[in-house]
Amino acid sequence: MKNKLAVILLIFFGTGLSLQAQQKKQTAVSKQISPDLIGVFFEDINYAADGGLYAELIQNRSFEYSLSDRYGWNSFTSWEYITKGYGYGTISVETSSPVNPNNPHYAVLKIEDEGNEGTGLKNSGFDGIPVKAGEKYDFSVFLRSVTGNSFPVQVKLMDKKGTVLGEAGISAGSKDWKKYVATITVNQTVDSASLVLLVKAKGTVAIDMVSLFPQNTFKNRSNGLRADLAQTIADLKPKFMRFPGGCLVHGDGLGNMYCWKNTIGPVEQRVAQRNIWGYHQTAGLGYFEYFQFCEDMGAKPLPVVPAAVSCQNSGGTWRIGGTGQKGIPLDEIKEYTQEILDLIEYANGPVTSKWGAKRAEAGHPKSFNLEYIGIGNEDKMTDVFKERFKLIYDVVKAKHPEITVIGTVGPSPAGEDFEIGWKLANELKVPMVDEHYYMKPEWFIANQKRYDSYDRSKSKVYLGEYASQGNTLFNAIAEAAFMTSLERNGDVVHLASYAPLLAKAGHTQWNPDMIYFNNTSIYRTANYYVQQLFSTNQGDVFYGNVVTTADNKADSTLAFSCVRDNRSGDVIIKLVNCSKTEQKLKVDLSQFKGLGTKAILTLLTGAADARNSFENPEKVTPVTSDFEAAKNFSYTTQPMSLTVIRVKAKK
Ligand code: AHR
Repeated sequence: MKNKLAVILLIFFGTGLSLQAQQKKQTAVSKQISPDLIGVFFEDINYAADGGLYAELIQNRSFEYSLSDRYGWNSFTSWEYITKGYGYGTISVETSSPVNPNNPHYAVLKIEDEGNEGTGLKNSGFDGIPVKAGEKYDFSVFLRSVTGNSFPVQVKLMDKKGTVLGEAGISAGSKDWKKYVATITVNQTVDSASLVLLVKAKGTVAIDMVSLFPQNTFKNRSNGLRADLAQTIADLKPKFMRFPGGCLVHGDGLGNMYCWKNTIGPVEQRVAQRNIWGYHQTAGLGYFEYFQFCEDMGAKPLPVVPAAVSCQNSGGTWRIGGTGQKGIPLDEIKEYTQEILDLIEYANGPVTSKWGAKRAEAGHPKSFNLEYIGIGNEDKMTDVFKERFKLIYDVVKAKHPEITVIGTVGPSPAGEDFEIGWKLANELKVPMVDEHYYMKPEWFIANQKRYDSYDRSKSKVYLGEYASQGNTLFNAIAEAAFMTSLERNGDVVHLASYAPLLAKAGHTQWNPDMIYFNNTSIYRTANYYVQQLFSTNQGDVFYGNVVTTADNKADSTLAFSCVRDNRSGDVIIKLVNCSKTEQKLKVDLSQFKGLGTKAILTLLTGAADARNSFENPEKVTPVTSDFEAAKNFSYTTQPMSLTVIRVKAKK
């Protein structure tokens, strides 16, 4: 028993062996690795949320756009005033009597004469409103009759020529704000429709929260997600999802920090705000929807909250040395920390608790089973940061020892912030830290030994953001080579997520990304397929003695790993060849009991510079075939390839 314990301790906590001996040990033994290794990183960057994953089709639905979101934007951005049939009057934006103080702006139509067709508003959506023949759309709007009279409202979806694609009528007249709903069935598929709302009576009417959702959202959720895009993410079968960022979390100045409480409850009561990436966030996709999406995908939620400091690059200060970091005043830290404790209660607390009750009110009495929380995002390691992080961490750790807190170690794989961040994590014994790096593919190939020498007795690693600066097959294969080293070091690297996840064509602030989309199409990059091959072929135990090079020589252009998935009993081998020539590898499966010979082989290969695009979305895609896996076999890897061989357990 004592010996067994010693072996387990050795595997998990290292030995104080020399670096060389430790490195050898990482490849020589079989060891338990993280069951949560590969997940996704969602940030509202590149129009990932509004105009992207969030299925709302109306842009600026609550007239909250402003100059501070983007130069030239205002309450009527994306709207047009319609007086087509000789109607006249005025339109204005007001704030004196809103639906909710959190949502202050609304439009007011003063109609002196409604004309032949009524007067009103037209919304052009996010680059147009895509609609599909035969599908139903849920329209809703908040209206208030200022003059007290009743009035008919007509809602139409129209193409560019004015053809009506579907319509509905509403009879309104409430003197107080009231939500009206209607269903519109569309008769034609059109990529770029508009929504027109016409009031057909004289009088004054206030309008807010004009909304249109397809009924076909992911898992048919109301206030839901764009089905095809959400499915593309779910197809990755991520073990966790980090949200809502990224730099979006700590914000462009203290006033722009992401406050989770502003993003829950009825959508008309949420607080919209400018997005650090130069646009607007409605918060329609908020914390409830994030938790729900995680659950719908079978991914563990991993929210990241600010460490009470704003982004060091606030105001674009990276140009002058990143001096934009500001800290919440120390006398407000207690209150701020309580917000984080409340978040944990919102996710996991009983329905009898204050915040658990709010979750139940939103339709989810059961816990969301929160296990991880990130505090801080690649923050500059100043005294301001350190002091605040420690104050928050101590309280969260004491109140919630069951939650794994993830600290932060700067934006780079090395350097001052990285070192100070790790030092702080070691001092405070933070269970896990979040490393970020965007490097060249050659860096990923050359740095496959990075984690072999990490001290197993210290904090675990969440590789929260990484990418190799491109979407070619070479980039993806370099990432695959590196990912075999994440599996090999899955006892210290606990979580990893490629970043960023989504990018909308024409609205991209950051390249490369994993999934590109427009209103009607999506393409998966070569990097996506690598992520998918790793995430759908994860294991619980790593074996360092199954795959060897033909001549037993180390070669960084050849990488491999072998894991066993305890649930299925399958053994999964990943072979990566980053070179321009074929390379032979030997596989020895003789140590595995209960393994058959039937295997599925998936191959991702092609020209090094091949990449997917909207025009050619399947240029680089994995190909699957049956494979007979003998106890011992040789396998010749293709140049520039990732091969995954999944050897099935005997049934
Ligand atoms: O992933 C894009 C950005 O990269 C993230 O917002 C930030 O954390 C990092 O600098």
